[in-house]
Amino acid sequence: MEQTLSIIKPDAVAKGVIGKIIDRFESNGLRIAAAKKMQLSRADAEAFYAVHAARPFFNDLVEFMISGPVFVMVLEGKGAMAKNRDLMGATNPQEAEPGTIRADFADSIDANAVHGSDSVENAANEIKFFFSGREIL
Ligand code: CMP
Repeated sequence: MEQTLSIIKPDAVAKGVIGKIIDRFESNGLRIAAAKKMQLSRADAEAFYAVHAARPFFNDLVEFMISGPVFVMVLEGKGAMAKNRDLMGATNPQEAEPGTIRADFADSIDANAVHGSDSVENAANEIKFFFSGREIL
């Protein structure tokens, strides 16, 4: 069964919509295989988003991701990576399809409510970044 990583970002955690976002996943055939709320350190955020280190938005992205707690999950199901991305909607909430998580809960391209792995290969690496094998059930 395919797995992918989901992060509910500080904006959505602060709004109190963790449960509403989890409901989108569970109502659409994605199982929560692991979950934890945590405060990322600067080093955590810089390492997690290292692929974007050269992008102009990198510093803002890191600052935002450490601005409050996040809720990190492993989602599991058939085609979990692509299904999660469909449910999230476009990175920029202004371009996200109505009914997607970002259209409904995100405010801006930085405060965009959720992160989801963008390939099955990246998902495996991102899951390992946050969870040990015995935390994934
Ligand atoms: P995420 O899926 O977490 O991956 C990287 C994040 O960088 C992205 O969501 C956005 O929140 C943020 N970001 C800010 N500006 C941009 C941009 N121009 N293109 C892509 N991502 C951006």
